[in-house]
Amino acid sequence: MHLLITAGPTHEPIDDVRYIGNRSSGRLGLSIAEESCNRHWKTTLLLGPTALPVPQLEGLETQRFQTTEELSQLLDSYWPSCDLLIMAAAVADYRLPTDSRPAKHARQPQGLDLHLESTPDLVAGLQRKKNQRVVGFALEEAANLVPRALEKLSKKKLDAIVANPLETMDALNITGQLFFSDGTHRLAPEQTKQAFAHWLLDELGDWPEGSPVTGGDK
Ligand code: C5P
Repeated sequence: MHLLITAGPTHEPIDDVRYIGNRSSGRLGLSIAEESCNRHWKTTLLLGPTALPVPQLEGLETQRFQTTEELSQLLDSYWPSCDLLIMAAAVADYRLPTDSRPAKHARQPQGLDLHLESTPDLVAGLQRKKNQRVVGFALEEAANLVPRALEKLSKKKLDAIVANPLETMDALNITGQLFFSDGTHRLAPEQTKQAFAHWLLDELGDWPEGSPVTGGDK
């Protein structure tokens, strides 16, 4: 098993000194990487700009990124040789076009309008070989969580998606649910991200040697 994990936020530059980011800590992705190494899986972690220390674990390769573009290039390099991708990174949905970033925006009393372009949806655009599996994440308000997660599962052509409420971001705990493309569903109790990582890899561990994701509701 070669597991590829993306984690943390992206920082999209506004100019050479400022960026647009989000509050993702990367904690869950780091826990998944640790759990994967504990299982002696070959593990590659693509990690965005986060303050958390990167664990020095046997079998773990870590590559850092700042922007969606850098993450895209790392995925192009690593994904073809991996079995399973867990796409936990909080990738920006918008960024400033490269040609509209000055060295530094001067302070102006009238304010500043920024035109943002959409970023490419990296996980939706991935090429897939037979037996390669992709798990995405949906972070949504609790009221819309399940329908929005199911929509992303289908639109992004994922094998499974972890649905978690907005409160998960930058928190210690997570209440996650896992929806598979075959219609099955697992619900995890509220627990630490470390415990959730253990639970998640137990659920996903049969890949790719076993059958594609199967199993009834627990
Ligand atoms: O559409 P939304 O951002 O909510 O989807 C979340 C999932 O899609 C996550 O797995 C995230 O890593 C991935 N994503 C991506 N490229 C983007 C935005 C999100 O791969 N530009």
